[in-house]
Amino acid sequence: MAVPEKAVWKLSPHTEAKHAMLRSYLETWLAKLAGTRGIPPLTYAEGFAGPGVYEGEKPGSPVIALDVFLKQAHRLRRDQHLNVLLIEEDARRVEELRRQVAAKLAPHGGSHPKLNVTIQHADASALLSDLTEESRRDEPFFAFLDGWGGPDHIPFETARHVAQRRGGEVLVTFEASHLWRFVDDEERAEVGDRCFGSQEWRDVKNQPSNKKQKFLIDAYQKSLKRAGFEYVTSFEMILPKKSRLHLVFGTKHIEGLRVMKKAMWKVDPHQGGVFHDPRFPGQLSLDLEAQADLSHLRKVILDKLEEGPISIDSLREFALHETVYREKHAREVAQKLLREKLITSTGGANMGSGSILEMRSDDPASSAGPQQEALF
Ligand SMILES: C[S@@+](CC[C@H](N)C(=O)[O-])C[C@H]1O[C@@H](n2cnc3c(N)ncnc32)[C@H](O)[C@@H]1O
Repeated sequence: MAVPEKAVWKLSPHTEAKHAMLRSYLETWLAKLAGTRGIPPLTYAEGFAGPGVYEGEKPGSPVIALDVFLKQAHRLRRDQHLNVLLIEEDARRVEELRRQVAAKLAPHGGSHPKLNVTIQHADASALLSDLTEESRRDEPFFAFLDGWGGPDHIPFETARHVAQRRGGEVLVTFEASHLWRFVDDEERAEVGDRCFGSQEWRDVKNQPSNKKQKFLIDAYQKSLKRAGFEYVTSFEMILPKKSRLHLVFGTKHIEGLRVMKKAMWKVDPHQGGVFHDPRFPGQLSLDLEAQADLSHLRKVILDKLEEGPISIDSLREFALHETVYREKHAREVAQKLLREKLITSTGGANMGSGSILEMRSDDPASSAGPQQEALF
């Protein structure tokens, strides 16, 4: 990805998509954590905050986060507060960020009693000093690590320390091609080792070119799991000239995964996991994107049912953990298969928890009712 030289640069469509996901996630994140008894101060941190604004006065991620927090600060309990930690290494951008944050807080008299905003002119690794404070282990910590595609500036140690926090979560911008280009340069490769926490990723050089991308994303997801995030998922952004960025998310809570998947499907209602830059030829039309494409899920669910009966709960869990889809998509597919008389359900069409689904042993073609409908 080309790195802008100017302190403030033009907002690209993929960044807008990234912001939409972040906003959607943070709205639910704060709503869920705020007001819950026993939840100590929360921290939202950015290691690569940027100037807080794009050309044309469009907000950057720190300002978007502040907008969500200011709108929802009333939800925080009387004894609860939210720390916002913004780190940026470029002095010009820090200066602009300070202006943007001050402008956002101005209508509240320059500060908000529930928010502690700290801006640091430093390298993203400064996050570690906040994270290693033993006394704060219990505090939920969301880290947005949005470098220029890194993740070579995001050492495994940072991810590991976030994972040690009670509600630790990371959202990392990841550009895979950035890494495989440098795997043969020992000095750069060592930076990669520090990011993955092992050398396994170096095997990318033995992968065929069409598998390198997926290999590295999988390797990074595995390394986040090793760091302590039980659930991981990623979102792909296809940019002009076919370059690709991924947002990789790690959380210790199943609910975090649910909320992030919901945010991803909001941005990509068609496939759930990919954003196509509209300037990239061959993009999906907007009409198509409006409807979820469940054809792949249908195929994998049919494969699972071929192996034997399975509960709706297992199918929902499978969709959430192993695919880009959400739990509700698994139910939608199963209900459609039932309507098509391809399967039976002990819980009828409702498919309540505990319903067991099974392939029909009789020939669906001979039964009355609608024949197989068109694919999703
Ligand atoms: C992709 S931009 C961030 C954009 C911002 N998150 C947003 O969406 O509005 C990356 C930023 O990270 C900063 N940066 C690059 N390397 C850094 C490092 N090692 N530590 C801290 N900041 C860094 C750059 O100056 C740039 O402002």
